[in-house]
Amino acid sequence: MFNDISSPLALLHTRRSGKPRDMIGPGPDADQLHAILAAAIRVPDHGKLAPWRFVIVRADQRAALAGLLTDAYRAEKPEAGRLEIEAMEQFAHQAPSLVVALSSPVAGSKIPVWEQELSAGAAIMNLLNAAHASGFVGGWLTGWAAYSDAVRDAFGTADERIAGFVFLGSPSREMEERPRPDFETVVREWTK
Ligand SMILES: Cc1cc2nc3c(=O)[nH]c(=O)nc-3n(C[C@H](O)[C@H](O)[C@H](O)COP(=O)(O)O)c2cc1C
Repeated sequence: MFNDISSPLALLHTRRSGKPRDMIGPGPDADQLHAILAAAIRVPDHGKLAPWRFVIVRADQRAALAGLLTDAYRAEKPEAGRLEIEAMEQFAHQAPSLVVALSSPVAGSKIPVWEQELSAGAAIMNLLNAAHASGFVGGWLTGWAAYSDAVRDAFGTADERIAGFVFLGSPSREMEERPRPDFETVVREWTK
């Protein structure tokens, strides 16, 4: 592993996303994935609504996922070329493990949907940090499939949205750090 997780804060300082297309095995086994998801759902949640769901796509279901994505893509874009279809297949097959994260806001709640969506994002962030803490690398992707109603219907209901496809695995090589925002640009003291 290329991750320095010698202290809890170092864990957070060193987390970075992996490119799902570059991930190799091992991914988390069933017990490890359970522990990662148990951490994901331990998240701030105004109103205790649990406005998120996680759907595990097993390794033996990746071909079915590829069929779902390519069928949905062709239905929406009948003129789709071979490269676009291959991109859908690659998306479905990449990385050892996949969890589809859904934003599942509770309709009619006095808690604004915005806050429920924030909780969903926080849960995915917990998932990524828990994966890192477990020695794996994660990647949070959306892309065309996340905004397809047909794909959404295969994982959830019309009231839900795909918040992300979260791929998990091991890095195939040392991961490069990306430029991070300048601290002073994004953090300041209030000057009133
Ligand atoms: C909601 C959301 C959707 C994303 N979708 C994509 C995506 O479809 N493709 C992609 O390359 N990166 C996507 N990203 C960015 C990566 O998940 C990741 O943030 C980026 O590679 C930087 O990695 P870092 O976590 O090390 O900062 C998305 C991020 C978020 C928050």
